[in-house]
Amino acid sequence: MSSVAEIFQSMSYGPAPESDVAARRWLAEHENGFAHFIGGRWIAAADESHFDVFEPATGQLLARAAQGSDADVDGAVAAARAALPAWSALPGHARARYLYALARGVQKHARLFAVLETLDNGKSIRETRDLDIPLVARHFYHHAGWAQLMESEFPGYGPVGVVGQIIPWNFPLLMLAWKVAPALAAGNTVVLKPAEYTPLTALRFAELAAEVGLPPGVLNIITGDGETGKALVSHPDVNKIAFTGSTEVGKQIRRATAGSGKKLSLELGGKGPFLVFEDSDLDSVVEGVVDAIWFNQGQVCCAGSRLIVQEGVADQLHDRLRARMERLRVGSPLDKGVDMGAIIAPVQLERIRELVEQGVAEGAVCWQPSWACPTDGWFHPPTLFTGVAPASTIAQVEIFGPVLVSMTFRTPDEAVALANNSPYGLAASVWTENINLALDIAPKLQCGVVWVNASNLFDAAAGFGGYRESGFGREGGREGMWEYLAKVEGAEAGGGLSGARGAPPENQSGADLPSSHHHSVADATTAPPTERATPTPLGDTPEAAASEPPHLPILDRTPKLYIAGRQARPDSGYSIAVHAPDGRTIGQVGDGNRKDIRNAVEAARAATKGWARATGHTRAQILYYIAENLSARSTEMAQRIARMTGVSEADSDDEVQATIARLFTYGAWADKYDGAVHSVPIRGVAIAMHEPIGVLALVAPERWPLLGLVSQMAPAIAMGNTVVAIPSSRHPLAATDLYQVLDTSDVPAGVVNIVTGDRDVLARVLADHDDVDAIWYAGSADGIRAVEHASAGNMKRTWCEREDAREWRDPTSGEGRVFLRHATQVKNVWVPYGE
Ligand code: NAI
Repeated sequence: MSSVAEIFQSMSYGPAPESDVAARRWLAEHENGFAHFIGGRWIAAADESHFDVFEPATGQLLARAAQGSDADVDGAVAAARAALPAWSALPGHARARYLYALARGVQKHARLFAVLETLDNGKSIRETRDLDIPLVARHFYHHAGWAQLMESEFPGYGPVGVVGQIIPWNFPLLMLAWKVAPALAAGNTVVLKPAEYTPLTALRFAELAAEVGLPPGVLNIITGDGETGKALVSHPDVNKIAFTGSTEVGKQIRRATAGSGKKLSLELGGKGPFLVFEDSDLDSVVEGVVDAIWFNQGQVCCAGSRLIVQEGVADQLHDRLRARMERLRVGSPLDKGVDMGAIIAPVQLERIRELVEQGVAEGAVCWQPSWACPTDGWFHPPTLFTGVAPASTIAQVEIFGPVLVSMTFRTPDEAVALANNSPYGLAASVWTENINLALDIAPKLQCGVVWVNASNLFDAAAGFGGYRESGFGREGGREGMWEYLAKVEGAEAGGGLSGARGAPPENQSGADLPSSHHHSVADATTAPPTERATPTPLGDTPEAAASEPPHLPILDRTPKLYIAGRQARPDSGYSIAVHAPDGRTIGQVGDGNRKDIRNAVEAARAATKGWARATGHTRAQILYYIAENLSARSTEMAQRIARMTGVSEADSDDEVQATIARLFTYGAWADKYDGAVHSVPIRGVAIAMHEPIGVLALVAPERWPLLGLVSQMAPAIAMGNTVVAIPSSRHPLAATDLYQVLDTSDVPAGVVNIVTGDRDVLARVLADHDDVDAIWYAGSADGIRAVEHASAGNMKRTWCEREDAREWRDPTSGEGRVFLRHATQVKNVWVPYGE
C-alpha cells in the first residue's frame, strides 16, 4: 500500500470505475435482444433477422437488435402517419408538456443513459455523464419552449408531416435529441433509425416515451443498417428526411430524394480548421486542442482536426502539445479518470490506421505518446502530424479519429486561405488575444459555426450546421425549428393547423397529458380536467370549514406576507378580512405597510445579482417547476378562486390551467428572447443585448387573482428581474397560496416577494421608492396618475394600464413580446474590427 506522501509524489491516478450494474440489468431484462418500437409497442422484425451490437472497449457482444426490412419501415411509417392528425392538432402547450416530461425523464434516468451510452459507444463516462446526457435534457426543455410558442411565433406554419430521421453513432442519444425534439415540438411524427453500432440508448428512450405517455406512433424507433436507412429515405409516405452522417451517404440521400418533394436537411462531415495566431495564450490553446480533437476520440464532425498555427509559435505549441498528449489517459471508458475511450468499431479503427500510414508515406512527421493503449478493445492513441502539406490526404480527408494534422501560416490572409482549403465547412476555431483580429477572421471562414478562443461549444438555443459539403439546414434554436415547419395551406395541411384549438381529434380523445394529473389533451388550456389525482392540501384555512365537522373550531392559519423567501407577519400587526361575493368572510391576509414594502424591496435588491446571472435555462427550469407544483395543487387553487370570486369552479379551473400555460410560455421564452446584431455603418458589429431592469414592482389586476399576478410575475422573472408583487386586494388568497408553491419550486429567496394589503396605497409607496427600478400597474385612472407622478423621483420606468386594458385569459393579449419588452432594457455593444 502506498503512503499519502508517495501518492503525492507520483500524483498518478488510481482506477475510478463507474458501476455498470444498472445498465447491464436493463439489458438483461430485455434478454439482451431488442425489437423495433412501432406504434408504442415492441414489434419483432418481420423477417426475424437481427444484428449484433458490440462493446467497443472490450470487443464483447452487448446485445442484438432487429434488422429493419422494407416491411418494418412500412409499419413504422404507417404508425407515424396514423398518429399525425391528432398530434399535430394538439395545442402547442400540450406538446410542450410532453417534451417537458421527456426532458424530466432523461434527467431522472440520466446515469442509466450515460452508462448505457458509454458501454455501447466506447466514449468516456465523463463525456456521457457531463455533456451528452445533460445536453439531451437541455434540448427537450428548450424545444418544450418552442412547442409552447408555436402559435405565436410561427403563425401560419404547421408540421411537415411524417419525418424520417437517420443518425450516426458518435453521439447516439444526443443526435436523437437534436432531431426528435424539434420535430415533435413542431407537431411532426417521427420514424428514427439509430446507427447500427449504437441503437441502445434510443431503445431505452423509446421506453421512456411510453412511460411518459407519448401517444403511440408519435415516435417510432426502427433499428438496422444502411439498407434500413435507404428504405426509410425512399418511402413514398415520408415528408421529410433529416440525416446526420458521412458526406458520401448524404450525397446518396440527396440524389434519392431529388424531385420527390421531400424536405431535406443534411448534417455531414467536416475537417475543421483550428487557427492559432501568435499572440494566443498557448496554454489555453493546448486545452482547446484537447477538446477539439481528442474529445470523443476525435469522432466528431466538427472536430478541430486541422491545426493551422502561425509560424513563430508553431514549434513551441507542438512541444507543449506533445507534453500534454504524453499525459492523456486512454482506457476503459467507464473509468472516471480516463480522457479517451475506444473507437466505435474495428472497421473505423482500421480506417484511422490506414490514414495514419498514408500520412507517414506522404512525408509528414507522426508523433504518438510513449505509452501503449489497451489491446482488449478498439483503442487508438492520440496522434499529431507536423510538417503536413496542405494538399496531402491527411490534410483533406475526414479521418474521424484522434488524429491532428498541423500546418503553419505567416499572415492572416494565408491562415484564412488554408482554413477554407477544404470542401467541407462545418465549424472552425480562432485563437488570438486580439479581439479585432478574431472578429475580422470569423466572417471570412466558410463554415456554419465559429468559436473564438473556444471549441466544441453546443447549445439547444444556437443553430448548428454547415456550409458546402458539410450539408445544409440547421439544428437548434429558431433556425432549427424552420427545418420542421411548413406553410399551412388552409386548415387541412399536415392533418390540421398546428395548435388549432377545439374538439379533441377522434382517436385522441382519451389521451392524457404527461403529468401526474390528467387533463384532456386537446383542451389542455381551456377545458376542465377529466380526472384528478389526490390533491396535496394547501394548509388548513378558514374556508376549509365546508369539509370540517361543524362542532369543531376551525384550525386557523392566517396567510402572511412573503419576503426574502420567508413568510413574514405584517409590520402593522393588522389583518384584513377577505370576503366572498355574498359577504361571507373566507379568510384573512396581512395588511402590508411602508415598512413591509421597504423590507421586500431590500430583499428583491439583494437577489438581483444572482438572479440576473442565472442562465436562461435555469430560469426556465424554475418557471416550469412552479407550473408543475401549481398543477399538483390545481384543484384547491380552483376551489379557492371560485369561493373568493364567485365564478364557477369550471371557470376557476380554466384560470388555473391558463396560469400553468402562462408559466410554460415564459419558461419557453427565458432562453429565447435573444438580442440582435445591428448593421451599423462601421467595420464591425453592434451587439444588442437584452438585460434585466432590476427590481420590478408589480401591481396586479383585481380580476383574475392568480392569472393576473402570474402574467406579470412570470415574464419579469424569466428575464432576470426580481419582483415585489402586490396581488389583487379583493381576492388576495390566490397569491398567498402561490407563495407556498414558490417555496417548493426552488425560487431563490428574494426573487419573488408578495405583500398583501390595499393595492393603491402600496402602489404609491412602491412608485415613491428610490430602489425600485420599474413599476407595472394595472388599475384605475386615478391610480395610474398617482403612480406615474410619484415615479419621477428616480425616473423609474412605468408601465401603467387600465384594469380592463387586457383580456388576461387570451394569450394574444395576456402574454407575449410586449411583456418581455417591458421586462428588459437593451444594451448595445459596439465591436469595431479589422486587422
Ligand atoms: P454513415 O454515413 O454510413 O452512417 C450514418 C447513418 O446513416 C447510419 O445510421 C447508417 O445506418 C445510415 N446509412 C448508411 N447508408 C445509408 C443509406 N444509403 N441511406 C440511408 N441511410 C444510410 O457513416 P459510417 O459508415 O458509420 O461512417 C463512415 C464515415 O462517415 C466516418 O468515418 C466519418 O468520416 C463519417 N461520419 C460522419 C459523421 C458526422 O457526424 N458528420 C457521423 C458518422 C460518420
